[in-house]
Amino acid sequence: MKVLVTGGLGFIGSHTTHMLLKRGYKVLILDNLSNSRLETLDGINSSCENKAQFVEGDILDRRLLDQIFTSHDVQGVIHFAALKSVKESMEKPERYHLNNVEGTERLLGKCIQHGVERFVFSSSAAIYGNSRSPVSEDAEIGEILNPYGGSKIKCEQILRNAYSLHGKPDITILRYFNVAGAHPEGILGEEMRTDDGNLMSHIIRIATGEIEKLFIYGGDYDTPDGTGIRDYIHVMDVARGHIHALEKQKRGVHIYNLGSGKGTSVLQILQSFEKVNGRRIAYEIVERREGDIGVSFADPSKAMEELGWWAELDIRDIVRDSWDYQWRLIQDMCK
Ligand code: NAD
Ligand code: UD1
Repeated sequence: MKVLVTGGLGFIGSHTTHMLLKRGYKVLILDNLSNSRLETLDGINSSCENKAQFVEGDILDRRLLDQIFTSHDVQGVIHFAALKSVKESMEKPERYHLNNVEGTERLLGKCIQHGVERFVFSSSAAIYGNSRSPVSEDAEIGEILNPYGGSKIKCEQILRNAYSLHGKPDITILRYFNVAGAHPEGILGEEMRTDDGNLMSHIIRIATGEIEKLFIYGGDYDTPDGTGIRDYIHVMDVARGHIHALEKQKRGVHIYNLGSGKGTSVLQILQSFEKVNGRRIAYEIVERREGDIGVSFADPSKAMEELGWWAELDIRDIVRDSWDYQWRLIQDMCK
């Protein structure tokens, strides 16, 4: 099967593409390099007999989409391409609407026109807002906390409406929780190009000496150690979730949480990072971050039952692989 992977040079897209190639899929990547580097293609294609093809371009470009679908026999699309910084989305909501919402609408329109059979969409636990954890897929969509989360809610609506109107393509929506980690062989990882405010990127920056200490946003949450709890999920598990989604795709629109089902606090992550990697992470507990919720973790039982998927890796794997990848990058730069 030939799969078009939008945003395939990004963090989750690159790991997923590598896994697809390993499993014998043909892959065409479409990415505008707005948050990725062309060098990632080498990491993706390394150790794969079958290489990914790459087109530099934008999902907003309808003419380019027509060219892609007429010259390649694409049966499935995995749509990762999006802007993902919550902080930036509050400063530039229109940019997020255009790229994420309009982009998804145009891509989906072309998929329908060219008879693509399967469509897998990257959604986020952000859409649950402050719903009570563990959250299952039928939880009410929470209050919209920021334009990024709002863009994912709109995309999900567009996908559902399009299916009820056209009866195609079959759609799987994957709602990821907090994705982190890197490829265990060190060939792929997360590019820390912009400060998106995420916990793991801040911990890495402290370990490399780029910033002095971690500001823990709130020590007074109703959690065992007072710090916020999240469901951290290894990027390799998330990548594998897409293979399951593609292979077990059913008629209609189906939604699954990709989370481990376990909550881990900020202090637990920090302690695990120190223990596994032997690096000290200085911290200070400060005020809560605006818009944050105390506890968020998944009920992943639907993905287990219907896709036969569950998280196999844990926090120790996440902190080890994240740091190994960054350490390799630092060593390469020093050569
Ligand atoms: P990423 O920024 O690393 O990857 C996104 C890729 O899409 C980048 O390579 C970027 O250059 C490309 N891109 C963006 N806009 C594009 C456009 N208009 N046309 C073509 N290419 C474009 O992000 P990621 O962490 O890999 O996230 C992938 C998807 O998963 C996103 O949709 C994101 O919203 C969603 N998601 C991520 C997380 C997470 O924890 N990383 C959690 C929930 C949901
Ligand atoms: C954020 C986004 C969410 C997105 C998700 C995954 C917000 C409000 N939500 O979620 O939309 O889907 O990332 O990309 O930003 N923390 C600190 N100090 C730091 C950084 C984080 O204490 O320097 C804490 C946070 O308060 C939180 C936890 O670490 O308790 C995780 O934070 P973060 O990595 O930013 O992810 P989320 O807030 O869960």
